[in-house]
This record gives sequence, C-alpha cells and structure tokens, in this order.
Amino acid sequence: MKEKNNKEKQIKKEEFVATTLHGLEEVLAEELDSLGAENISLGSRAVYFEGDKAVLYKANLYCRTAIKILKPIVEFECPDEEALYEEIGITNWEKYMSVDDTFAIDGVTFSSAINHSKYVALKTKDAICDQFRSKYDKRPSVDTVNPDLRLHVRISKDVCTVSINSSGESLHKRGYRPKGEMEAPISEVLAAGLILLSGWDKRTPFIDPMCGSGTFLVEAALMAKNVPPGIFRKQFAFERWRDFDEQLWKDIVDESYTKRHHRLNTLILGSDINPEAVAMAKESLDNAKLGHEVKVDCIPFDQFIPPTGGGTVFFNPPYGERLQESDVNVLYESIGNRLKAKFPGYTAWMITSNPEAAKHIGLHPSKKITVFNGALECRFMKFDLYEGSRKIKKRNIETPE
Ligand SMILES: C[S@@+](CC[C@H](N)C(=O)[O-])C[C@H]1O[C@@H](n2cnc3c(N)ncnc32)[C@H](O)[C@@H]1O
Repeated sequence: MKEKNNKEKQIKKEEFVATTLHGLEEVLAEELDSLGAENISLGSRAVYFEGDKAVLYKANLYCRTAIKILKPIVEFECPDEEALYEEIGITNWEKYMSVDDTFAIDGVTFSSAINHSKYVALKTKDAICDQFRSKYDKRPSVDTVNPDLRLHVRISKDVCTVSINSSGESLHKRGYRPKGEMEAPISEVLAAGLILLSGWDKRTPFIDPMCGSGTFLVEAALMAKNVPPGIFRKQFAFERWRDFDEQLWKDIVDESYTKRHHRLNTLILGSDINPEAVAMAKESLDNAKLGHEVKVDCIPFDQFIPPTGGGTVFFNPPYGERLQESDVNVLYESIGNRLKAKFPGYTAWMITSNPEAAKHIGLHPSKKITVFNGALECRFMKFDLYEGSRKIKKRNIETPE
C-alpha cells in the first residue's frame, strides 16, 4: 500500500462534530458543555468539540438537539473524483473494520466537480473495497440498514472530510413516535431545540393546544424529568465499534437512571381539535412512559381554558398549505383572540412559515428567531401576554410605587 500522505494521523481521535439544524448551534453547544465536552466551537449546523469516550457516549445519549455525532478520521484536498478514490484508497481501513464487517456510506457534497452525493458514496465504497480485495481477494459487504461501520463523507470547498458516524440512524429518531401518518409532525430535534431556545424553566406549566402527535409534550416532559432523549433507542452505531467499552456505556446508562426525577412535577398539558391526533399524542406519551403524567384532551383551541397563574404555551399550527388563505388568517386571528382573553401571565411561542397569517394574531412578537422546519423557512416568535395591556405593564415598570 502506498505511504499515507493525508492527514489521518493529525486528526486526534477525540475530536468530534455534532450536526444539528440551522439556529440550534448555540443550544447544542450548551448541551455539550454540560456533558463535559471541551474546546467547543460553532459551525454552520454543526458544533465541534473534544472529549473522551465517555463524552462521546453521553453526547449520543443526552443531546436533545444533535442529529448525529461524527468522529472525523481523515481530511484531504479533493478537487476531483480521482483524488477522492486515491486518498480513500491510502487510508488504512483495517483500523476501523475487517473484511468480514459490513459498512455503509452517507455522502454529502457541495463541490461543483463532484456534485452527486450518491457518486461520492459509490467512489468511496469502490476505493475501500479495492483496498481489501487487493489484500484478501475479497471485499466487505455493504449493509445500508444495520452496518458494522457507518461512514460520513463530506466534500465542501474541495476539502473532503471522512468521519465515522457514532450515532447510526439520526438522533431525532428517539424511538417513541408511533408509526402512522400525522399532519406535519415536527422533528424531535427541532421541538427540543425550540423548547430550549424559549428558555422554559421546566417547572412552570407547559401547554401545547395544537399538539398533533405530541412531540412538544414528550420533549418537554423528558426535559422536566431529566430523562435522556436517547434512552428509548435500540442501538447507537458506536456500540458496534471495535473499541466499544461496554462497561463504560452501561455505567453511563445506569447513571442516567439515578439522575432522573421519578415523577413529573410540572404541569404539562396537550390538546388538539382532531381525535386522531389526540390518540397519536397519547401513544407517543405512552411509548415514552409518560402516558399517566401528561393529559391530552380533544378540544378546539378557542374553547381551551388554561390553568391560572401563567406558564408557557407552544404552537405549531397549520401553516396554511392545505387551507384557503382566508381560513388560515381566521385561524391565526382566533389564536390571538384566545391568547389575549384567557392567557394573562403566559408566554406564548409559535413556529410558522406563514408570516402573513401571523400578522392576524394581532400581537407584537417580542422576539423572532429564524429556524427551518424541514425545507420551510420559519419564524419562531415570542408573545408576552400581560395582565391587562402592554402599555399598562410598561407604565407600572417605569413608575413603581
Ligand atoms: C402542524 S400540526 C402540529 C404537529 C405537532 N407539533 C407534531 O409534532 O405532531 C397542527 C395541529 O393543529 C391542530 N389544529 C388545527 N386547528 C386547530 C384548532 N382550532 N384547535 C386545536 N387544534 C387545531 C391540527 O389538528 C394539527 O394536529
């Protein structure tokens, strides 16, 4: 084999990248910091950090806003497909897998020279297989569903970074969502990220009156109970790595049980106008072992009566793709009217891709954050619902008695 000239040795084993959604980088960095990660820095939809094996395992188990945790193993200049094949071919793959292991490759490219992600994956696979074949006269097999090793190959600005994916399937797949069709469920990672961005204190009431399949409810309750979001997953990819430390992983999981609150001491309520959504939300909560602790009712929002004393109310309403414009405006107007009439002392947060409809709420957002729900650019808006008008509240603050 040709002498290695890429930077495989220079990338320390303990450098990692956690990928996330646009706008959630800072909350993810805070999560990683709380787990003991070091040298944390922000990228675009990514957070770079360093840590030992325990940090890696904890990041997978505990991070609510990570999509996957990657371990970069090699980086090289990649102006064209020949460079990709050659550099992959001189990386020592036996360090990471044997000829009898299975593997899978996710390719991502922002390069004009190699502009198909599938081609990146194909070329990488060929180079790895050719390396094993030249030595053993046989090659490892590809298994896209349950591989021993899952690689992530990313080309950007003529630089290729090859990483091992320590998570496997995306971490948004917590394992509590029921199978079946639901109207536009929000990603678990986005739901958790929005709750963290809102600064909800995990103690005061949390309400989702258009809860759909219950994603906000489950994520909020898991946070309030200090239950790690990854606890329902069957497996993480790092459990199949050659250097997997089974005892360390067991200790980390066991410790998470000691840190959780056995009872939910926070009022979390959900409702939806659609009985099928209510049934699905209940199933999600049951799957997350929260069914007896979070109440979900079938009721239209304009009849919802919240507990007095204030709290946080979250909305991911229909954005209007399937509604007439006039209907969606009426819906948003009725949300605003109900908030003004029945939610004094509450803080409302809404995510929507429909800024025109949002104007019909009739309240001024005190904060607006840009996020993406899938491909849809959205605003995540905060509305402070004071007792009485905003003007009176301001005057009281300015001229205290
Ligand atoms: C975009 S979905 C919410 C998805 C949810 N966040 C999830 O993760 O599954 C919007 C929900 O609002 C509900 N909805 C629409 N109009 C409503 C109303 N007037 N009162 C209560 N719920 C309503 C729909 O039934 C639907 O479940």
